[in-house]
Amino acid sequence: MSVLPRVLDVVADRAVVPGYTKLGFLLRRRFWDPLPPDALRGKVVVITGANSGLGKAAATGMARLGAEVRLVVRDPQRGERAKADILAEVPGAALRVDRCDVSDLDDVRRFAATVSELDVLVHNAGTMPAARAETTQGNELTLATHVLGPHLLTGLLVPVLREGVPGRVIFVSSGGMYTQPLRVDDPQYREGEYNGTKAYARTKRMQVVLALLWGRRLECDGITVHSTHPGWAATPGVTGSLPGFAKVMGPLLRDAGQGADTVIWLAAAEEGGRPETTGRFWHDRAPRPAHYLPRTRETAAQRDALWQFCEERTRR
Ligand SMILES: NC(=O)c1ccc[n+]([C@@H]2O[C@H](COP(=O)([O-])OP(=O)(O)OC[C@H]3O[C@@H](n4cnc5c(N)ncnc54)[C@H](OP(=O)(O)O)[C@@H]3O)[C@@H](O)[C@H]2O)c1
Repeated sequence: MSVLPRVLDVVADRAVVPGYTKLGFLLRRRFWDPLPPDALRGKVVVITGANSGLGKAAATGMARLGAEVRLVVRDPQRGERAKADILAEVPGAALRVDRCDVSDLDDVRRFAATVSELDVLVHNAGTMPAARAETTQGNELTLATHVLGPHLLTGLLVPVLREGVPGRVIFVSSGGMYTQPLRVDDPQYREGEYNGTKAYARTKRMQVVLALLWGRRLECDGITVHSTHPGWAATPGVTGSLPGFAKVMGPLLRDAGQGADTVIWLAAAEEGGRPETTGRFWHDRAPRPAHYLPRTRETAAQRDALWQFCEERTRR
């Protein structure tokens, strides 16, 4: 990117509202090269939470680029409806609906055993519960959905991803993670009054750190690992969990396709497979800082503690 677009890009990012809304997307898009129309031909993609919002948009975009897409959903009926919608947009798309609740570690193990071919794994499923809830394995729900399920699924599928080299793993995090430090002292959010927005942001911070740690571990295997945030997009998740925010931002929100653009790009563009890009946090096709506030910076020891915790809770 030349100097003026780069300056505009950074200013929009730091000012948050222009960068996160569709204004940022429309500004930056002017400087992007189109992806080759068959960039994912012959590739197998697994996307969690693919029946709705960004997951469905990412599935549509990747199917359009020729990928065979496995739509991982917890409700097969909603999955079949999403499949029909995608087929209407991309006739002849190779789609398969798989049922899996990613917060349930036994279900993740069962699903992983059905995957024998894989090039791109997208951890997109997300939730923001109003009250603290636990899964059948006794894990706090946002932790299980955003961190433990994806950690386990990644670990179980690494042998399959190795065969599809250059394999890619993408965590769909959130700009909300900028507000929270890595909380390895209380990962299950047992201390203090539970706040769903905070729990969400804490676990989205964990995703960014996990992408970095997985990226380092898988570098020698030629597998790249990324985290990304979509900005603010009008999806059922946003209108359902944050109706006030969705109302205020209204027409400025991105559509789901704009929010999912960087997920598709990381999966399909050459850049997403380059070793030097691994472990980074992306927004609108560019790497972004993982911290803006000094108080959110974690130490190497805290990162190691997150890894140990995830390994212990997900025993493979
Ligand atoms: N939209 C935004 O502006 C925005 C901003 C920042 C980050 N994000 C992130 O983007 C991702 C997609 O969110 P979205 O906005 O597209 O929301 P969404 O429309 O609510 O989609 C979330 C998807 O995750 C699925 N899901 C939730 N828990 C699951 C579980 N335990 N197992 C399997 N699937 C599960 C949901 O399935 P059901 O339909 O069955 O509930 C749904 O398909 C999330 O990770 C979210 O944190 C979105």
